[in-house]
Amino acid sequence: MIRFKSDKEDKPILDYSNLTFIRKLTRKMRDPKTKFDTKEFINRGEDYLFNYTNKNVGSVDEKRRKFLKSLIFGIAAAAVVGVIPGLKVLVPPTVTVTSGFPKSLLVDSSGNPIKASQIPVNSPFIVIFEYPMTGEPNFLINLGDSSGKPVEIPSTIVEVPQTGKTYTFPGGVGPNKSIVAYSAICQHLGCTPPYIHFYPPQYVGPSQLTASEPDQLTAAALLAAKQAKVPALIHCDCHGSTYDPYHGGSVLTGPTVRPLPAVVLEWDSSTDYLYAIGAVGVAAYPNGSNGVPTNNPNEDLSSSFGSPVGDKTTVQETENPFSS
Ligand code: FES
Repeated sequence: MIRFKSDKEDKPILDYSNLTFIRKLTRKMRDPKTKFDTKEFINRGEDYLFNYTNKNVGSVDEKRRKFLKSLIFGIAAAAVVGVIPGLKVLVPPTVTVTSGFPKSLLVDSSGNPIKASQIPVNSPFIVIFEYPMTGEPNFLINLGDSSGKPVEIPSTIVEVPQTGKTYTFPGGVGPNKSIVAYSAICQHLGCTPPYIHFYPPQYVGPSQLTASEPDQLTAAALLAAKQAKVPALIHCDCHGSTYDPYHGGSVLTGPTVRPLPAVVLEWDSSTDYLYAIGAVGVAAYPNGSNGVPTNNPNEDLSSSFGSPVGDKTTVQETENPFSS
């Protein structure tokens, strides 16, 4: 039996029947005839996994369902992945390098470079750009404190709750080192704006819980913001995942078990222009050419997932989800 240790207890995670079941499942996942579609899994989440398992391995009863859930979303994933390499398809790797990504200038809809000093602080508008592939939205945020002054964002060590691994977020850029960029794809089940968006400080408070629009900020998110001593949040209204934009997009509340991947920005102080030059975090591009997650952006860029944005990417203000 394989066991893992948590803070207080030593629990069994895989008995013999589970081990046999997992071996069968991973064999099917790797078999070209019954290949596991990672893209579908990212899009549809556990429902896809349950249906896949039902069809290819055998019926998924309640016990098995719980086991699969713990395998995907719980601490057990970290322990099991080390033992059964095939399961890596369920746990995307952490990207810690930036080489291989394109260098893209951030431009407005007319093609003019965006000037860092002109980006409003704590803007409630959803401001996104695609990078490094078309169709992959990222937030562009100029972070401030509760009185609207830009806040310098230092480099942070970010932990991935799913695996316990860490990586370094390089911090903010721009004249006040307050500009950050994160993937706008929720790492729980993939919701995108407007369902996931930035809640500036003026919208992070108890009154938001009863506001008519947006009305999904949870008490748990407010509490987490208070405990983390951060005035603003990125919150996914789909199921309540909350991320800390001041600390590398780290997880404040689940159900996500992965931080938001960050786009590495570069600021040219002589022109005030901004460039996207890389990414850090859990791989946002899980479909390598072999269908297995990869941390090689060159491989990702050559896949059929999308096309590279090239040396320029357009910043768009999509909408203000708040009533004023
Ligand atoms: S998709 Fe579920 S919380 Fe975002």
